[in-house]
Amino acid sequence: MSNIITLKNVSFRYGEKTVLNSIDLQINGGEKVVILGVNGSGKSTLLKIMNGILFPEKGEFLYKNEKITEKRLKNKNFAKKFRREVVLLFQNPDSMIFNPTVYDEIAFGMRQFGLDDVDKRVKIWTERLGISDLLNRSPFELSGGEKQKVCLASLLSLQPQVLLLDEPTANLDPRSTGWLIDFLQELDITVITTTHNLGLALELGNRAVVLSENHEIVYDGEITEFIKNRELLEKANLVHKHKHRHGQIYHSHFHLHDEY
Ligand SMILES: Nc1ncnc2c1ncn2[C@@H]1O[C@H](COP(=O)(O)OP(=O)(O)OP(=O)(O)O)[C@@H](O)[C@H]1O
Ligand SMILES: [Mg+2]
Repeated sequence: MSNIITLKNVSFRYGEKTVLNSIDLQINGGEKVVILGVNGSGKSTLLKIMNGILFPEKGEFLYKNEKITEKRLKNKNFAKKFRREVVLLFQNPDSMIFNPTVYDEIAFGMRQFGLDDVDKRVKIWTERLGISDLLNRSPFELSGGEKQKVCLASLLSLQPQVLLLDEPTANLDPRSTGWLIDFLQELDITVITTTHNLGLALELGNRAVVLSENHEIVYDGEITEFIKNRELLEKANLVHKHKHRHGQIYHSHFHLHDEY
């Protein structure tokens, strides 16, 4: 497998606030990587750098061994190729929708990139995502999960090579989450997903990249090994302590914050 995404010593700040600190990362084509870390650790920012919408303050981001800079993306042909190959599902789907109907929303990207058979592709992707009945609706009036599925359909219809998913299951019900997991497992492209849910992380990939509150990578390796490592889980604050009630007895202990 060849290297598709490389971050070399990447740091990023919003104003004075450092949110990514000397990040080194190499991802090969076809890998399924899960990015874990507490709120504010920099996960969304990291995905935005890989999507070429934010640029490192220090260090380099390379896609297929080519350095991605604002200047490089001013080249229309290159930008067109990169924007079609590397796509990001935003944490908040509202920031992605802007068309009057679901049909137009999904067709928009395909039209931008000059794909054939737009009608046919809209039909295929809406059927796969179970949203065929929404085609004439305004995307703005949909539920959170419905919006997320529309955004996913518009991205997947471009047949990208790198799919960046920022908390894709946050708005999805269990059935849709199950569908997404199965779907991603069968997909042979590179998928990089952020989540807080350690149980889901195991299903979303086999490699975990974990960001600490200091915005550094504290773990990069097998998810199964990470989840077994209490010390690392505590270091990344991905386990927490709170009171439980068992019958009349209250006690408190560390545990993972989801169904895992
Ligand atoms: N546009 C912005 N301007 C200023 N600060 C920002 C901006 N976007 C994010 N931040 C700050 O940068 C830090 C990292 O944000 P980021 O969204 O990358 O975190 P995250 O790990 O994705 O968090 P969450 O789990 O809540 O989604 C946060 O402290 C956030 O407040
Ligand atoms: Mg985020």
